[in-house]
Amino acid sequence: MRIYYQPKNQSITQKNLQLATKLRNLQKSGLPMKHLLGIKDVSLAEIQQILDTATNFKEVINRPIKKVPSLRDITIANVFFENSTRTRLSFELAQKRLSADVINFSASGSSVKKGETLLDTVNNILAMKVDMIVMRHSSVGAPHFLAKHIKAQIVNAGDGTHEHPTQALLDSFSIREKLGDLAGRKIAIIGDILHSRVALSDILAFQKLGAEVMVCGPITLIPRYISQLGVKVELDVQKALAWCEVANVLRIQLERQQIKYFPSLREYTLYYGINKAMLDRLDKPIVLMHPGPINRGIELASDAADSEHSIILDQVENGVAVRMAVLYELANQNS
Ligand code: CP
Repeated sequence: MRIYYQPKNQSITQKNLQLATKLRNLQKSGLPMKHLLGIKDVSLAEIQQILDTATNFKEVINRPIKKVPSLRDITIANVFFENSTRTRLSFELAQKRLSADVINFSASGSSVKKGETLLDTVNNILAMKVDMIVMRHSSVGAPHFLAKHIKAQIVNAGDGTHEHPTQALLDSFSIREKLGDLAGRKIAIIGDILHSRVALSDILAFQKLGAEVMVCGPITLIPRYISQLGVKVELDVQKALAWCEVANVLRIQLERQQIKYFPSLREYTLYYGINKAMLDRLDKPIVLMHPGPINRGIELASDAADSEHSIILDQVENGVAVRMAVLYELANQNS
């Protein structure tokens, strides 16, 4: 068990001791997983343990001194083969808050452009004595492939249209923080389900936590066999909003759409875009989420994104605490 930070010239406070005890107790049950590749492989108990640890870390990052020495003996490489703002920055901040050594790799500007393979790239990074890889890749299954070929621990920061497990964990944490337990809650995931990696991870996490999940969007953007996951399918966004307590709106991923899935963006916005008037008309509280980046004025109007219904920036804040928890739990798995 790694110790907690004691600022210079300050005695250990009761608060610090309570926090260390809480983390030590959480640690006793241990997480059996070596990697975090997808929510599919994570049990309900493991999800709850990560969320509970994140609650403790959220308290830490709201202190005047936000840093703890928990991972000071660990070196982590953030290996990003695809663009990112939130995930890359919040992983880096989480690692720094835990006192890990951090290196950052972006495929653009690297020797990948000269033809170096994924495995060679990662093996060269690991040769520099790196313990853990956080990787985003445009290919489905890239982190699963790596896990079979390298010894280091891997965290999937998004693989193509497949999974984005830390986004699902921070989404679950944000709903739990706003509404309490997810069990019995009604959550609608609205938008481009077909090209989204957040959709599958969210569905799996929300269901494991006991929520009822609906997906909503044009039929062309809903995977054909999705109802086999036990989700409701709704094509009418007004009905989806009337049904749910939480609306998680997803981005239209034009960069992944090789063919036309709807006639025009204008028509998509007309039928599936969400604005504040639609939320206000519901005559009930509703929590609005979006994993980002938002296409403002397309799937979500600014007046909704910036309204009192929205917890979008809370999701971003919680991303740091949740990623601290994931890194901490995985690093402690081997200690
Ligand atoms: N939500 C999310 O994954 O955002 P980024 O692509 O900016 O990391």
